[in-house]
Amino acid sequence: MRQTCSIAKATPPMNALSPAPVTTPQSRATPAEARPFVRVDGISHRYGRGAPVLEDICFNVRRGEVLALIGRSGCGKSTLLHLLAGLSTPGAGQVHIGDRPVTGPSNRWVMMFQSPSLFPWMTVFQNVELGLRFDGRRTQAKHRVPQVLELVDLSAFGDRNVQDLSGGQQQRVALARSLAPEPDILLLDEPFSALDAFTRRSLQGEVRRIAKSLGLTLILVTHDVGEAALMADRAVLLTSGPGRVAADTDIALDDDDRSEATRAFRAETARLSQLYAEVAGMSAATDTPRQKGSAR
Ligand SMILES: Nc1ncnc2c1ncn2[C@@H]1O[C@H](COP(=O)(O)OP(=O)(O)OP(=O)(O)O)[C@@H](O)[C@H]1O
Ligand SMILES: [Mg+2]
Repeated sequence: MRQTCSIAKATPPMNALSPAPVTTPQSRATPAEARPFVRVDGISHRYGRGAPVLEDICFNVRRGEVLALIGRSGCGKSTLLHLLAGLSTPGAGQVHIGDRPVTGPSNRWVMMFQSPSLFPWMTVFQNVELGLRFDGRRTQAKHRVPQVLELVDLSAFGDRNVQDLSGGQQQRVALARSLAPEPDILLLDEPFSALDAFTRRSLQGEVRRIAKSLGLTLILVTHDVGEAALMADRAVLLTSGPGRVAADTDIALDDDDRSEATRAFRAETARLSQLYAEVAGMSAATDTPRQKGSAR
């Protein structure tokens, strides 16, 4: 393993331009005995002969943890998620999930995108069973699909055409489809950013609850520190041009505090916003709208 991958345990002053990853006062080291489930070791990437998009990205994720990857538009978040999912191959470095290096897509990890990408001529049930069908497990669908529809609160909608559903309901169908094959990891690329604020907040809480109840590991890409504070146990903040890990910090909130109504949530969101502003090289004042949940 490359030396550059050990994230500093000290607390140096925050510097967005620093090439070395830094931690914040609330960061914790992964205990040696708790083997990380996902290991990202020195990932660097560029498209063709273009400028480097990602440089020496290193972090670990524990099994069952919810990690938010936060960074400005164009910093390489989606690229990183694709590399984690084995949808493309990094120029340098390696990703391990469990004991195995990621060399391609797998049914153990599933990606969810901003758009639900459902098949409009199929019912909710048929859309949800697709993952199982592709996995050669169609016979399990009869039992599994009703289970996941119940998890996402769509039990009554199995026979409905997906075109008749709202955007939030469609995104829930996409979530059920992702959960049906019982993956270990869900990779979420801003899956709620096209939804209205109310639906977005309710789905954010729901997805965390479902992930925790199933012991799922979530890696969530977002621009929105409020989304990170609602959903994640930890946040990794990336710089841009190229994307590097600039901070790795715990989100120390009890589940009861994961609501915009609580003081602890507002304090944590303000702390993350400040950190994000420092990493992004912008003032906290110009970053304020993001605290309130706007996607961009
Ligand atoms: N297929 C591609 N070919 C060439 N360049 C690409 C490709 N995909 C992304 N890029 C470039 O890589 C950089 C990072 O893109 P990426 O989509 O990963 O950013 P992002 O952080 O997800 O942005 P956003 O928040 O806007 O979704 C951008 O400069 C983008 O133009
Ligand atoms: Mg993106």
